[in-house]
Amino acid sequence: MKDAEIIEGTISFVKETLREAEGGHDWFHIQRVFNNALHIAKTEKVDVQVVSLGALLHDIADAKFHNGDESVGPTLAKSFLQSLKVPKSTIAHVVQIIQNISFKNSLTKDKVQPFNSKELQVVQDADRLDAMGAIGIARAFNYGGFKNRKLYDPKIAPNPHLTKTQYKNSNAPTINHFYEKLLLLKDKMNTNTGKRLAQERHQFMLNYLEQFYREWNPMEPRS
Ligand code: ADP
Ligand code: NI
Repeated sequence: MKDAEIIEGTISFVKETLREAEGGHDWFHIQRVFNNALHIAKTEKVDVQVVSLGALLHDIADAKFHNGDESVGPTLAKSFLQSLKVPKSTIAHVVQIIQNISFKNSLTKDKVQPFNSKELQVVQDADRLDAMGAIGIARAFNYGGFKNRKLYDPKIAPNPHLTKTQYKNSNAPTINHFYEKLLLLKDKMNTNTGKRLAQERHQFMLNYLEQFYREWNPMEPRS
């Protein structure tokens, strides 16, 4: 099968698999990450087929929605790619990307990242960008709503030093998520293009938060 046919087949598979997915993790998230990844890949020396398949399959079975089981996604991706007779080395690399892309895994400080590659870095940047800026804000509140969380509670302070387990079990208001994850992303970007794009989205989130607090406390003087 030609590379382009493999990509087409993967797009159909992902669309079908994510048909019922929650709004922040649906096909359109995958499409945006795929587009971001192709954009970033233009300025990096990478295997574009691996980047494309990694982006398309990175959230095929998010552990959050499979009782925390982190092996479902990689296993599903592997058997799908095998069915298309994708070369073994490409499959192995894509599976590594899916296993290592998550923000949660980067929270495990005492564990050295078991795998790294330029292709992983590109897909990771592309995924992180989609958690930032206007779309990142929309996804955070959508996810918070899905989990029935408060928008904000001035009495519940954010904790920017959450461990992996605390992060997973956190039931904190969605505004806290900005300080626990979203505002930390710009300093985690791997590629130069990723860093540049992250800067603008980061600033947009800061402006958003300023406006949010202003509306929450209309009587407070402007700083
Ligand atoms: P990753 O794919 O890196 O593991 P997540 O799956 O945790 O990242 O996050 C995916 C999307 O869901 C992001 O847009 C993220 O901001 C949002 N999200 C995850 N956890 C929360 C939370 N506790 N509150 C609000 N949004 C969240
Ligand atoms: Ni994702």
